[in-house]
Amino acid sequence: MSSNVPVITIDGLSASGKGTVANAISLKLGWNLLDSGLLYRIVAFLVDHFGMNLNDEEGIEHLVTQRVRIDYSDRGVQASLDELGRPLRDGVMILSDSLHRKTVQWKGDDVTNTVRGNEISRLAARVAASRRIRNVLVPKQREQRVMPGLVADGRDMGTVIFPDAQLKIFLEASPETRARRRMAQLGAAETEASFRHVLQSLQERDERDSLREVAPAKPAPDAVRIDSSELSVDDTVARVMDLARQRKMIV
Ligand code: DC
Repeated sequence: MSSNVPVITIDGLSASGKGTVANAISLKLGWNLLDSGLLYRIVAFLVDHFGMNLNDEEGIEHLVTQRVRIDYSDRGVQASLDELGRPLRDGVMILSDSLHRKTVQWKGDDVTNTVRGNEISRLAARVAASRRIRNVLVPKQREQRVMPGLVADGRDMGTVIFPDAQLKIFLEASPETRARRRMAQLGAAETEASFRHVLQSLQERDERDSLREVAPAKPAPDAVRIDSSELSVDDTVARVMDLARQRKMIV
């Protein structure tokens, strides 16, 4: 599995800022970006759309491998054609039009907000607990490791998907900081009640993501932990870039 293509993995819990930081670094370096959570969200969206039972892992695997193709390409994430280039049975189409501003479309509708919203977040955490579904998504993630380099954002990038990455970051922030960031992301007005609600759903998700048996969100033994509670995005990005320089990944 070893590869010379440089990879920076940025793992962490929900709303730890890893997506923003990964995005900024990939833009700075001109490297490919893997938003692995989006894959789990897309599967969750499809499961929801087709009214599938989460316990039907075989059916979900069939859906993801036979009925819908999910590809990361330089146009983002696509799911439209089967292996032979035929339109898929369900006529599904998910397309993101730009690598760094991912939008997800479904049969021509922009479903980005749904896919990023709370309902699908909850469902995605449950989908992501399935070993079988995770396994289906492994090659789709590894194929993103192309020159000149990859910044990969997720929970298990450094532990499972790219264990030989040259630089592994585990981004941390207090639950309160993360809840505030999530609210800002959702554009929600901050009332005490809505803050508590967001905090609680984050903590439920933390629990699912970090305590699950398969690929839990945890730092790789060789990961550098960065607590970003008191750091700006720019400071966090600068710290990661310094580490990459120290490791001679970049000049
Ligand atoms: O990063 P995110 O919030 O978009 O991730 C959505 C869900 O997918 C989240 O519950 C954790 C899960 N996930 C995962 O298990 N492994 C990854 N590499 C990325 C996300």
